[in-house]
This record gives sequence, C-alpha cells and structure tokens, in this order.
Amino acid sequence: MPRNEIGEYDAMYGGEDGKPPPWEIGQAQPALAAVVEAGVEGQRVLDAGCGSGELSILLASKGHQVTAFDFSAVAIEQARAKAAARGVAVDFHVADALALPEEFGPFDVVFDSGLLHSLLRPEHPTYVATLRRVCDPGASLHLLSMSDEAEFDHGLAKEQLEQLFADGFTDVRIEPTTVHAGTTGSFTMPGWLLSATR
Ligand SMILES: C[S@@+](CC[C@H](N)C(=O)[O-])C[C@H]1O[C@@H](n2cnc3c(N)ncnc32)[C@H](O)[C@@H]1O
Repeated sequence: MPRNEIGEYDAMYGGEDGKPPPWEIGQAQPALAAVVEAGVEGQRVLDAGCGSGELSILLASKGHQVTAFDFSAVAIEQARAKAAARGVAVDFHVADALALPEEFGPFDVVFDSGLLHSLLRPEHPTYVATLRRVCDPGASLHLLSMSDEAEFDHGLAKEQLEQLFADGFTDVRIEPTTVHAGTTGSFTMPGWLLSATR
C-alpha cells in the first residue's frame, strides 16, 4: 500500500495496531518547538499535515492565529478534541496537501512537521508548489524532514531539499537535526530543519 493512503493513516491514528502512530510523541517535535519558542514573526500561521495537533496547539498557545490541516479525519478529530481540552482555538481542516483548496492562505508563517517526507517522491514538486502558493511574499517556512540517513526509505537528502526549494524561496537554510519517535519521543533519527523565506 502506498504511504499516502488516507485509510492507512486513519487506521494508525485509530490505534488499530494497539498503539499510536510512531510519530505521536505527545508533544511537538523538539526542533520545531524550539523555533516556536524562539518566536516567529507573523500572525497567520499554517501547520501542514498537523496530525493530532501538538504543534498547532503550541502555536495557538503563543497567540498565533493557526490554521491546520491533515488528510486523516481521525487525526483531525483527535486534534480538535485536544485543542478544546487545552482551551485553545485552532482552525482545523480535513484536506489533502496535494489538492489544497484555493481558499487556504495566504499565511505569514508555514510549518511542516513530517508531511513532506510522508509524501511519495513524485508528489514532492506538487506539494512544494502549494507551499509557494499559500505563503505570502516574505513569509517564513519551517520544515522538519527525516534525512536519507534515517533507517526508513522516505528520508530526503539535503541536495533533494535544496533542489525542491530552489525556486520561489530565498535564504534557504538546511541544518542537521533530530526527528523523535515513540510514545516518549526517545527513539531518534537524523533529520533536517529547513528554514526559508518566500
Ligand atoms: C509523520 S506524520 C506527522 C504528523 C504531525 N505533523 C506531527 O509532527 O506529529 C505525517 C502526517 O501527514 C499526514 N499526511 C500524509 N499525506 C498527506 C496529504 N497528502 N495531505 C494531508 N496530510 C497528509 C498524515 O496523515 C500524518 O498525520
């Protein structure tokens, strides 16, 4: 089954295997949480492929106006419940990154915590074109991806990221970082933190 099958993600979020999906660490990925804690400029923020919403909720708790989407309806249901329980407002949507409705955006800041690396390689350019579209000129992008040095086949090489973001983005910085997994986040993998300006 291709990795981008919606039902597969719904089953994982639904705990079909008797455990949560491996990326559910009970908090935002530390590399992106550090970006949020350092402060991002701009009010209108998008969390693309938000999963069960930890990063979206962190952003909203800092006072940003957060829109978030995921194509898994089960993940969005969990995200809405979590945000309500924590008393923050996030505009959550069920939507496909490869067919994002025109009404999304523009945003001042866009986050991607593990969505790009979840897509199939031929889908990458379509998704990056969508990121270009939803970013206002001058917007910042912060993207966390698994690296090709991780033990899974969908990690990206630094050169692939450079190529994907060569068009329409400036000041592209790609730094090595760590992607966390497992219920306590204690399983770690090499990753990339990409920051760029539209
Ligand atoms: C590795 S998980 C990361 C989830 C969340 N951002 C996090 O950091 O915990 C990737 C997410 O992307 C979502 N996803 C995969 N393909 C998608 C697509 N085409 N459109 C929207 N969401 C997608 C999955 O449902 C999943 O929630």
